[in-house]
Amino acid sequence: MASLCRGPRLLRTVAGLHLSPSTASIGVQVPIWRRSYANTSANPDRTCIITGASRGIGKAIALRLANDGYNICVNDIEANKDGVDEVVSQIQSLGRKAMPYLCDVSSSSAVTSMVRSSVSSLGPLNTMIANAGIAQVKPLLSLTDADVQRMMDVNFFGVYNCYTAAAKQMIAQAASASPTYKIIGAASIVAFRPFALLGHYSASKWAVRGLTQAMAMEVAGHGIRVNAYAPGIVGTAMWELIDEKMGEIKGAKRGETIRKYSDDLIALGRTSVPEDVAKLVGFLASEDSEYVTGQTMIVDGGIQFS
Ligand SMILES: NC(=O)c1ccc[n+]([C@@H]2O[C@H](COP(=O)([O-])OP(=O)(O)OC[C@H]3O[C@@H](n4cnc5c(N)ncnc54)[C@H](O)[C@@H]3O)[C@@H](O)[C@H]2O)c1
Repeated sequence: MASLCRGPRLLRTVAGLHLSPSTASIGVQVPIWRRSYANTSANPDRTCIITGASRGIGKAIALRLANDGYNICVNDIEANKDGVDEVVSQIQSLGRKAMPYLCDVSSSSAVTSMVRSSVSSLGPLNTMIANAGIAQVKPLLSLTDADVQRMMDVNFFGVYNCYTAAAKQMIAQAASASPTYKIIGAASIVAFRPFALLGHYSASKWAVRGLTQAMAMEVAGHGIRVNAYAPGIVGTAMWELIDEKMGEIKGAKRGETIRKYSDDLIALGRTSVPEDVAKLVGFLASEDSEYVTGQTMIVDGGIQFS
Protein backbone atom coordinates (compact mmCIF):
# COMPACT_ATOMS: atom_id res chain seq x y z
CA MET A 1 0.00 0.00 0.00
CA ALA A 2 2.82 2.37 0.93
CA SER A 3 4.42 2.00 -2.48
CA LEU A 4 1.13 2.96 -4.15
CA CYS A 5 1.21 6.35 -2.44
CA ARG A 6 4.59 7.41 -3.77
CA GLY A 7 3.37 9.81 -6.42
CA PRO A 8 1.73 10.50 -9.76
CA ARG A 9 4.04 8.08 -11.60
CA LEU A 10 2.00 5.25 -10.08
CA LEU A 11 -1.38 6.70 -10.94
CA ARG A 12 -2.79 4.65 -13.77
CA THR A 13 -5.91 2.91 -14.93
CA VAL A 14 -6.21 -0.82 -15.11
CA ALA A 15 -9.28 -2.84 -16.05
CA GLY A 16 -11.63 -2.76 -13.08
CA LEU A 17 -9.66 -0.26 -11.00
CA HIS A 18 -9.41 3.48 -11.56
CA LEU A 19 -7.04 5.80 -9.73
CA SER A 20 -7.30 9.53 -9.93
CA PRO A 21 -5.07 12.18 -8.37
CA SER A 22 -6.46 14.62 -5.87
CA THR A 23 -5.01 17.32 -3.68
CA ALA A 24 -5.67 16.52 -0.05
CA SER A 25 -6.20 19.26 2.55
CA ILE A 26 -2.67 18.88 3.90
CA GLY A 27 -1.39 19.92 0.46
CA VAL A 28 0.18 16.61 -0.50
CA GLN A 29 -0.99 14.94 -3.70
CA VAL A 30 -2.26 11.47 -2.91
CA PRO A 31 -4.17 8.95 -5.03
CA ILE A 32 -7.89 8.61 -4.34
CA TRP A 33 -9.12 5.10 -5.11
CA ARG A 34 -12.33 4.56 -6.99
CA ARG A 35 -13.12 0.94 -7.50
CA SER A 36 -15.19 -0.78 -10.14
CA TYR A 37 -15.61 -4.49 -10.53
CA ALA A 38 -15.12 -6.80 -13.48
CA ASN A 39 -18.28 -7.66 -15.36
CA THR A 40 -18.07 -11.04 -17.07
CA SER A 41 -20.77 -10.13 -19.57
CA ALA A 42 -18.89 -7.01 -20.73
CA ASN A 43 -17.69 -8.82 -23.84
CA PRO A 44 -20.36 -11.34 -24.92
CA ASP A 45 -18.61 -12.54 -28.07
CA ARG A 46 -15.40 -13.92 -26.68
CA THR A 47 -13.70 -16.79 -28.49
CA CYS A 48 -11.67 -19.64 -27.15
CA ILE A 49 -9.69 -22.62 -28.42
CA ILE A 50 -9.76 -25.71 -26.21
CA THR A 51 -7.45 -28.60 -27.04
CA GLY A 52 -8.21 -32.23 -26.23
CA ALA A 53 -11.87 -31.26 -25.88
CA SER A 54 -13.66 -34.32 -27.31
CA ARG A 55 -14.10 -35.83 -23.85
CA GLY A 56 -13.20 -35.65 -20.17
CA ILE A 57 -11.98 -32.39 -18.66
CA GLY A 58 -11.66 -30.60 -22.03
CA LYS A 59 -15.28 -31.36 -22.91
CA ALA A 60 -16.50 -30.12 -19.50
CA ILE A 61 -14.50 -26.91 -19.96
CA ALA A 62 -15.95 -26.42 -23.46
CA LEU A 63 -19.53 -26.74 -22.22
CA ARG A 64 -18.86 -24.54 -19.21
CA LEU A 65 -17.30 -21.77 -21.32
CA ALA A 66 -20.09 -21.99 -23.90
CA ASN A 67 -22.53 -21.44 -21.03
CA ASP A 68 -20.38 -18.47 -19.96
CA GLY A 69 -20.78 -16.92 -23.43
CA TYR A 70 -17.74 -18.12 -25.35
CA ASN A 71 -17.73 -19.22 -28.99
CA ILE A 72 -15.40 -22.20 -29.16
CA CYS A 73 -12.94 -23.96 -31.44
CA VAL A 74 -13.03 -27.60 -30.28
CA ASN A 75 -9.78 -29.45 -30.90
CA ASP A 76 -8.74 -33.08 -30.61
CA ILE A 77 -6.91 -35.68 -32.67
CA GLU A 78 -8.42 -37.34 -35.75
CA ALA A 79 -9.16 -40.54 -33.80
CA ASN A 80 -11.62 -38.62 -31.60
CA LYS A 81 -13.49 -36.86 -34.43
CA ASP A 82 -16.89 -38.24 -33.34
CA GLY A 83 -16.43 -36.81 -29.86
CA VAL A 84 -15.38 -33.43 -31.28
CA ASP A 85 -18.46 -33.31 -33.54
CA GLU A 86 -20.70 -34.17 -30.59
CA VAL A 87 -19.21 -31.39 -28.43
CA VAL A 88 -19.54 -28.90 -31.31
CA SER A 89 -23.25 -29.70 -31.68
CA GLN A 90 -23.81 -29.49 -27.90
CA ILE A 91 -22.23 -26.01 -27.88
CA GLN A 92 -24.34 -24.93 -30.85
CA SER A 93 -27.48 -26.12 -29.09
CA LEU A 94 -26.56 -23.71 -26.27
CA GLY A 95 -26.80 -20.88 -28.81
CA ARG A 96 -23.07 -20.33 -29.21
CA LYS A 97 -20.85 -20.72 -32.27
CA ALA A 98 -18.50 -23.70 -32.40
CA MET A 99 -16.13 -25.26 -34.91
CA PRO A 100 -14.18 -28.52 -34.96
CA TYR A 101 -10.43 -28.55 -35.54
CA LEU A 102 -8.61 -31.86 -35.71
CA CYS A 103 -4.86 -31.75 -35.18
CA ASP A 104 -2.04 -33.04 -33.02
CA VAL A 105 -0.94 -30.24 -30.69
CA SER A 106 2.64 -31.54 -30.64
CA SER A 107 3.05 -30.01 -34.13
CA SER A 108 3.77 -26.29 -33.89
CA SER A 109 2.75 -25.66 -37.51
CA ALA A 110 -0.57 -27.46 -36.93
CA VAL A 111 -1.27 -25.35 -33.85
CA THR A 112 -0.43 -22.15 -35.74
CA SER A 113 -2.87 -23.18 -38.49
CA MET A 114 -5.52 -23.96 -35.88
CA VAL A 115 -5.22 -20.47 -34.37
CA ARG A 116 -5.45 -18.91 -37.85
CA SER A 117 -8.52 -20.99 -38.72
CA SER A 118 -10.27 -20.20 -35.42
CA VAL A 119 -9.70 -16.46 -35.88
CA SER A 120 -10.95 -16.56 -39.44
CA SER A 121 -14.15 -18.47 -38.52
CA LEU A 122 -14.97 -17.21 -35.02
CA GLY A 123 -13.18 -13.87 -34.76
CA PRO A 124 -10.28 -12.54 -32.65
CA LEU A 125 -8.89 -14.98 -30.09
CA ASN A 126 -9.54 -14.10 -26.45
CA THR A 127 -8.60 -17.29 -24.65
CA MET A 128 -6.47 -20.38 -25.29
CA ILE A 129 -6.88 -23.48 -23.16
CA ALA A 130 -4.06 -25.97 -23.70
CA ASN A 131 -5.80 -28.95 -22.14
CA ALA A 132 -4.69 -31.91 -24.30
CA GLY A 133 -2.49 -34.41 -22.54
CA ILE A 134 -1.52 -38.06 -22.29
CA ALA A 135 -0.52 -40.30 -19.39
CA GLN A 136 1.60 -43.42 -19.20
CA VAL A 137 2.15 -45.65 -16.17
CA LYS A 138 5.68 -47.06 -16.18
CA PRO A 139 8.62 -47.19 -13.73
CA LEU A 140 11.29 -44.62 -14.59
CA LEU A 141 13.89 -47.37 -15.04
CA SER A 142 11.74 -49.10 -17.70
CA LEU A 143 11.06 -46.05 -19.85
CA THR A 144 12.37 -45.91 -23.41
CA ASP A 145 13.59 -42.72 -25.06
CA ALA A 146 10.48 -42.85 -27.23
CA ASP A 147 8.22 -42.98 -24.13
CA VAL A 148 9.81 -39.84 -22.68
CA GLN A 149 9.90 -38.07 -26.05
CA ARG A 150 6.20 -38.64 -26.74
CA MET A 151 5.23 -37.55 -23.21
CA MET A 152 7.17 -34.30 -23.60
CA ASP A 153 5.98 -33.80 -27.20
CA VAL A 154 2.31 -33.80 -26.18
CA ASN A 155 2.28 -32.58 -22.58
CA PHE A 156 5.05 -29.98 -22.78
CA PHE A 157 5.50 -29.03 -26.47
CA GLY A 158 1.73 -29.21 -27.00
CA VAL A 159 1.22 -26.62 -24.28
CA TYR A 160 4.23 -24.57 -25.39
CA ASN A 161 2.92 -24.54 -28.99
CA CYS A 162 -0.51 -23.38 -27.83
CA TYR A 163 0.87 -20.75 -25.43
CA THR A 164 3.20 -19.19 -27.99
CA ALA A 165 0.84 -19.33 -31.01
CA ALA A 166 -1.95 -17.79 -28.92
CA ALA A 167 0.29 -15.08 -27.46
CA LYS A 168 1.55 -14.06 -30.92
CA GLN A 169 -2.04 -13.83 -32.17
CA MET A 170 -3.16 -11.85 -29.12
CA ILE A 171 -0.26 -9.42 -29.44
CA ALA A 172 -1.09 -8.91 -33.14
CA GLN A 173 -4.71 -8.20 -32.19
CA ALA A 174 -3.54 -5.72 -29.53
CA ALA A 175 -6.48 -4.27 -27.62
CA SER A 176 -9.09 -4.83 -30.34
CA ALA A 177 -10.75 -7.93 -28.94
CA SER A 178 -10.51 -7.88 -25.18
CA PRO A 179 -9.27 -5.80 -22.27
CA THR A 180 -7.41 -8.87 -21.07
CA TYR A 181 -6.44 -12.04 -22.87
CA LYS A 182 -6.21 -15.42 -21.16
CA ILE A 183 -3.86 -18.32 -21.77
CA ILE A 184 -4.50 -21.37 -19.61
CA GLY A 185 -2.73 -24.73 -19.49
CA ALA A 186 -3.32 -28.17 -18.02
CA ALA A 187 -0.89 -29.02 -15.24
CA SER A 188 -1.67 -31.46 -12.42
CA ILE A 189 -1.06 -31.98 -8.71
CA VAL A 190 1.96 -33.99 -9.83
CA ALA A 191 3.47 -30.63 -10.89
CA PHE A 192 3.86 -30.09 -7.12
CA ARG A 193 4.54 -33.65 -5.89
CA PRO A 194 5.06 -36.47 -8.37
CA PHE A 195 3.27 -39.83 -8.21
CA ALA A 196 5.50 -42.91 -8.39
CA LEU A 197 5.04 -44.80 -11.70
CA LEU A 198 4.01 -41.51 -13.34
CA GLY A 199 7.52 -40.04 -13.32
CA HIS A 200 7.83 -38.69 -16.86
CA TYR A 201 4.17 -37.56 -16.78
CA SER A 202 4.93 -35.71 -13.53
CA ALA A 203 8.03 -34.10 -15.06
CA SER A 204 6.01 -32.93 -18.08
CA LYS A 205 3.43 -31.27 -15.81
CA TRP A 206 6.19 -29.72 -13.67
CA ALA A 207 7.51 -28.23 -16.94
CA VAL A 208 4.05 -26.77 -17.71
CA ARG A 209 4.07 -25.08 -14.30
CA GLY A 210 7.48 -23.51 -15.00
CA LEU A 211 6.49 -22.46 -18.50
CA THR A 212 3.32 -20.85 -17.14
CA GLN A 213 5.32 -18.73 -14.68
CA ALA A 214 7.88 -17.58 -17.27
CA MET A 215 5.24 -16.89 -19.92
CA ALA A 216 3.17 -14.85 -17.46
CA MET A 217 6.15 -12.59 -16.83
CA GLU A 218 7.03 -12.17 -20.51
CA VAL A 219 3.57 -11.31 -21.84
CA ALA A 220 2.08 -9.38 -18.92
CA GLY A 221 2.86 -6.10 -20.68
CA HIS A 222 0.58 -7.14 -23.56
CA GLY A 223 -2.46 -7.59 -21.32
CA ILE A 224 -2.18 -11.38 -21.38
CA ARG A 225 -2.73 -13.44 -18.22
CA VAL A 226 -1.20 -16.92 -18.17
CA ASN A 227 -2.29 -19.52 -15.62
CA ALA A 228 -2.59 -23.28 -15.27
CA TYR A 229 -4.98 -25.62 -13.49
CA ALA A 230 -3.83 -28.58 -11.47
CA PRO A 231 -6.49 -31.27 -11.08
CA GLY A 232 -6.08 -34.21 -8.71
CA ILE A 233 -7.83 -37.51 -9.41
CA VAL A 234 -10.56 -36.96 -11.99
CA GLY A 235 -12.74 -39.84 -13.22
CA THR A 236 -11.96 -39.70 -16.94
CA ALA A 237 -10.53 -42.05 -19.58
CA MET A 238 -7.07 -40.96 -18.43
CA TRP A 239 -7.63 -42.26 -14.91
CA GLU A 240 -9.23 -45.44 -16.25
CA LEU A 241 -5.91 -46.09 -17.96
CA ILE A 242 -3.89 -45.19 -14.85
CA ASP A 243 -6.11 -47.42 -12.70
CA GLU A 244 -5.76 -50.35 -15.10
CA LYS A 245 -1.98 -50.06 -15.57
CA MET A 246 -1.19 -49.43 -11.89
CA GLY A 247 -3.42 -52.40 -11.08
CA GLU A 248 -1.38 -54.60 -13.44
CA ILE A 249 1.87 -53.57 -11.74
CA LYS A 250 0.55 -53.76 -8.16
CA GLY A 251 -1.83 -56.70 -8.55
CA ALA A 252 -5.00 -54.68 -7.93
CA LYS A 253 -8.36 -55.29 -9.63
CA ARG A 254 -9.94 -52.68 -11.94
CA GLY A 255 -11.34 -49.77 -9.94
CA GLU A 256 -9.37 -50.62 -6.78
CA THR A 257 -6.48 -48.19 -7.33
CA ILE A 258 -8.63 -45.12 -8.03
CA ARG A 259 -10.86 -46.03 -5.06
CA LYS A 260 -7.89 -46.47 -2.73
CA TYR A 261 -6.19 -43.25 -3.88
CA SER A 262 -9.47 -41.34 -3.56
CA ASP A 263 -10.26 -42.75 -0.09
CA ASP A 264 -6.73 -42.29 1.27
CA LEU A 265 -5.78 -38.96 -0.28
CA ILE A 266 -8.81 -36.73 -0.92
CA ALA A 267 -9.91 -34.66 2.09
CA LEU A 268 -13.34 -34.01 0.58
CA GLY A 269 -13.88 -37.76 0.32
CA ARG A 270 -14.86 -38.20 -3.33
CA THR A 271 -13.18 -38.62 -6.68
CA SER A 272 -13.25 -35.45 -8.79
CA VAL A 273 -15.51 -35.04 -11.80
CA PRO A 274 -14.51 -32.98 -14.89
CA GLU A 275 -17.01 -30.25 -13.94
CA ASP A 276 -15.01 -29.57 -10.73
CA VAL A 277 -12.08 -28.57 -12.95
CA ALA A 278 -14.28 -26.65 -15.42
CA LYS A 279 -15.50 -24.40 -12.59
CA LEU A 280 -11.94 -23.28 -11.83
CA VAL A 281 -11.15 -22.84 -15.52
CA GLY A 282 -14.35 -20.80 -15.90
CA PHE A 283 -12.94 -18.41 -13.30
CA LEU A 284 -9.50 -18.30 -14.95
CA ALA A 285 -11.13 -17.58 -18.34
CA SER A 286 -13.31 -14.81 -16.94
CA GLU A 287 -12.53 -11.18 -16.23
CA ASP A 288 -12.87 -11.94 -12.53
CA SER A 289 -9.33 -13.38 -12.62
CA GLU A 290 -7.95 -10.19 -14.19
CA TYR A 291 -5.40 -9.80 -11.35
CA VAL A 292 -4.22 -13.44 -11.39
CA THR A 293 -1.23 -14.49 -13.49
CA GLY A 294 1.60 -17.02 -13.36
CA GLN A 295 -0.34 -19.32 -11.03
CA THR A 296 -0.89 -23.04 -11.18
CA MET A 297 -4.11 -23.48 -9.23
CA ILE A 298 -4.85 -26.77 -7.55
CA VAL A 299 -8.36 -28.22 -7.77
CA ASP A 300 -8.10 -31.63 -6.11
CA GLY A 301 -10.55 -31.81 -3.20
CA GLY A 302 -7.69 -31.47 -0.73
CA ILE A 303 -4.79 -33.77 -1.69
CA GLN A 304 -1.97 -31.29 -2.16
CA PHE A 305 -1.80 -28.00 -0.29
CA SER A 306 -0.01 -25.04 -1.89
N1 LIG B 1 -7.86 -37.04 -15.19
C1 LIG B 1 -7.10 -36.57 -14.24
O1 LIG B 1 -7.17 -37.05 -13.10
C2 LIG B 1 -6.14 -35.45 -14.48
C3 LIG B 1 -5.42 -34.98 -13.39
C4 LIG B 1 -4.52 -33.94 -13.58
C5 LIG B 1 -4.34 -33.40 -14.84
N2 LIG B 1 -5.05 -33.88 -15.89
C6 LIG B 1 -4.81 -33.28 -17.19
O2 LIG B 1 -6.00 -32.73 -17.71
C7 LIG B 1 -6.00 -32.83 -19.14
C8 LIG B 1 -7.24 -33.54 -19.60
O3 LIG B 1 -7.23 -34.84 -19.03
P1 LIG B 1 -8.48 -35.86 -19.10
O4 LIG B 1 -8.50 -36.56 -17.81
O5 LIG B 1 -9.68 -35.19 -19.62
O6 LIG B 1 -7.87 -36.88 -20.17
P2 LIG B 1 -8.57 -37.66 -21.40
O7 LIG B 1 -7.60 -38.70 -21.82
O8 LIG B 1 -9.95 -38.06 -21.06
O9 LIG B 1 -8.66 -36.50 -22.49
C9 LIG B 1 -7.50 -35.97 -23.08
C10 LIG B 1 -7.85 -35.57 -24.50
O10 LIG B 1 -6.66 -35.04 -25.10
C11 LIG B 1 -6.60 -35.55 -26.42
N3 LIG B 1 -5.22 -35.55 -26.90
C12 LIG B 1 -4.21 -36.38 -26.53
N4 LIG B 1 -3.12 -36.12 -27.25
C13 LIG B 1 -3.43 -35.11 -28.09
C14 LIG B 1 -2.71 -34.40 -29.07
N5 LIG B 1 -1.43 -34.72 -29.34
N6 LIG B 1 -3.34 -33.42 -29.75
C15 LIG B 1 -4.63 -33.10 -29.50
N7 LIG B 1 -5.36 -33.76 -28.57
C16 LIG B 1 -4.77 -34.74 -27.87
C17 LIG B 1 -7.13 -36.96 -26.30
O11 LIG B 1 -7.50 -37.48 -27.58
C18 LIG B 1 -8.28 -36.79 -25.33
O12 LIG B 1 -9.49 -36.50 -26.01
C19 LIG B 1 -4.70 -33.54 -19.51
O13 LIG B 1 -3.70 -32.61 -19.83
C20 LIG B 1 -4.34 -34.26 -18.23
O14 LIG B 1 -2.97 -34.53 -18.14
C21 LIG B 1 -5.95 -34.90 -15.74
